[in-house]
Amino acid sequence: MINNEKKYTAITGASSGIGYACALEFANRNKNLILIARREQQLQALKQKIAEVNPNIQVIIKICDLSQATNVHSLFEQLNSYYIETWINNAGFGHYGSVEDQNLEKIQSMLHLNIEALTILSTLYVQKYHNKPDTQLINISSRGGYTIVPNAVTYCATKFYVNAFTEGLAQELKQAKAKLTAKVLAPAATKTEFGQKANNVNEYDYDKSFNQYHTAEQMAGFLMKLYDSDQTIGEISTKDFSFSLKNSILPYSGNPSENQKS
Ligand SMILES: NC(=O)c1ccc[n+]([C@@H]2O[C@H](COP(=O)([O-])OP(=O)(O)OC[C@H]3O[C@@H](n4cnc5c(N)ncnc54)[C@H](OP(=O)(O)O)[C@@H]3O)[C@@H](O)[C@H]2O)c1
Repeated sequence: MINNEKKYTAITGASSGIGYACALEFANRNKNLILIARREQQLQALKQKIAEVNPNIQVIIKICDLSQATNVHSLFEQLNSYYIETWINNAGFGHYGSVEDQNLEKIQSMLHLNIEALTILSTLYVQKYHNKPDTQLINISSRGGYTIVPNAVTYCATKFYVNAFTEGLAQELKQAKAKLTAKVLAPAATKTEFGQKANNVNEYDYDKSFNQYHTAEQMAGFLMKLYDSDQTIGEISTKDFSFSLKNSILPYSGNPSENQKS
């Protein structure tokens, strides 16, 4: 049973970085929030901050390790009574290192989070909301999901998946004349906890590691431009770090004569 009176924006990976900054953007827009991550203390601190910025909205916290598929299904089930007008799959992490040297425990966890959880949550959201007006699914991918970055091959491959899946889903929803739209944000280097986790270090200096990067707040601003637009992709240029909105990047086989007859 959906409570149609109150609408929510759900954000995975809201305890730091881009997800945290996006939560504050949506709070400024008077959006009730469902914030999901593993670290409760960080989510409680964010909830407190939001209460100071905008005491009029409701903030629900869900602690969940999304690298376990059973948790992902159970999370969506627990949210059944909330009307979620926007779902943002942002939780994800990277890994720097050669394929030869990569630690498979970390890599398998990355595949589960970046690919499996995102696919399960996108599918469940599409099944429930495809015909609800003004609904959006936004998946956070990476510029590394359109260009292979040396030493980050497996991470980039997970984001190639996210871009292909989300661009394809956007096409599918348009063809079905669904009311739900699917979008993808492709950030380039952004100063968050990403650098630490991808390099397995406790401290990470973005100024030493990159000539250019965005802040999480700038990236959240770009996400809001994508949210407000009717385009599918919000992409950072690797040439000049500018942000642009596009309708598609990947090739799409839209010609029925080339494809399986349905
Ligand atoms: N920063 C960049 O340069 C960059 C560039 C391109 C794309 N991206 C993408 O942007 C997204 C956000 O990353 P970020 O840069 O903001 O990094 P971040 O600061 O490390 O944030 C990652 C978020 O994901 C959550 N998370 C990680 N593992 C999780 C798990 N097993 N279950 C539930 N939540 C989990 C973390 O929360 P907990 O640890 O509390 O669970 C955290 O809130 C990711 O998808 C990343 O791939 C980042």
